[in-house]
Amino acid sequence: MSKGNDRQFHRLLEFIGSEMDFESGFYNDAYLDRRITARMRRTDTETYREYKRLLERDDGEREQLLDSLSINVTGFFRNPEAWEHLRPVLRDLTAENRRVRLWSAPSADGREPYSAAMLALDDPEVDDSRIEITGTDINADILREARRGTYETSQTTDIAEELAPLDDYSEYVEEDGNTFRVRDNVTDMVTFQQHDLIRGDPKRDFDLVFCRNLLIYIDTEYKVPIFETIRGSLREGGYLMIGMTETLPTECRDAFEPVDKQHRIYRRV
Ligand SMILES: C[S@@+](CC[C@H](N)C(=O)[O-])C[C@H]1O[C@@H](n2cnc3c(N)ncnc32)[C@H](O)[C@@H]1O
Repeated sequence: MSKGNDRQFHRLLEFIGSEMDFESGFYNDAYLDRRITARMRRTDTETYREYKRLLERDDGEREQLLDSLSINVTGFFRNPEAWEHLRPVLRDLTAENRRVRLWSAPSADGREPYSAAMLALDDPEVDDSRIEITGTDINADILREARRGTYETSQTTDIAEELAPLDDYSEYVEEDGNTFRVRDNVTDMVTFQQHDLIRGDPKRDFDLVFCRNLLIYIDTEYKVPIFETIRGSLREGGYLMIGMTETLPTECRDAFEPVDKQHRIYRRV
């Protein structure tokens, strides 16, 4: 049976926006539909209208849906081959500048900015004492997890495997059974703040911005404001790294030149 029409789908999104405080307008409909349909299957509801009624009466389902919509999948050294190609960038940046500022936007639970810190500490040709890292995200709860810096191996996440690009990860995390706590030598290099890449102001004078795996979920019209924020936050010649399955919007291609196209590393013109 069909899940209902477009109007029902948009009514459902309106409800999610007004009653559940979720900015559905930023995300593309196909992504939202996939997540909502998955919850409909789990709850045996067949139409958007029926699912909206379920949300109206069931707090638990509201929470489950929000969980499934919050696009916070992340990991240490996500796409390890891309991190390998970042090494020469970090080497050059620390050789040429006394202070090197990195921004992980969005940082999710911190594993991306901590990976950058670990890579810098681990590479003998990178002067880690020159590096400062900022991690930002729109989600305050996820930033609390990031500051805590403690991660669990579970059925779906293998933290030891994520850390495999490092020769000896015990220098950077303390392992206790399934729990991994990021050590102070790493956390000391990173600070976290809340920031919205679409509506927030640009920052200033960053040498390298990571903006990975957010654009894939975002509606086309919000991609340009995100790139404007990033461009304004980078110094001239500063680097940008995007996700391995992402591309620069055509409108922004003049502002960045590729450094390593295959690994999605660019430079502000
Ligand atoms: C899939 S994670 C990507 C994390 C990391 N960069 C990576 O590649 O693993 C996407 C993150 O974007 C955050 N996010 C969503 N909309 C945002 C916005 N407008 N501004 C900043 N962060 C946002 C979400 O809270 C989520 O933590």
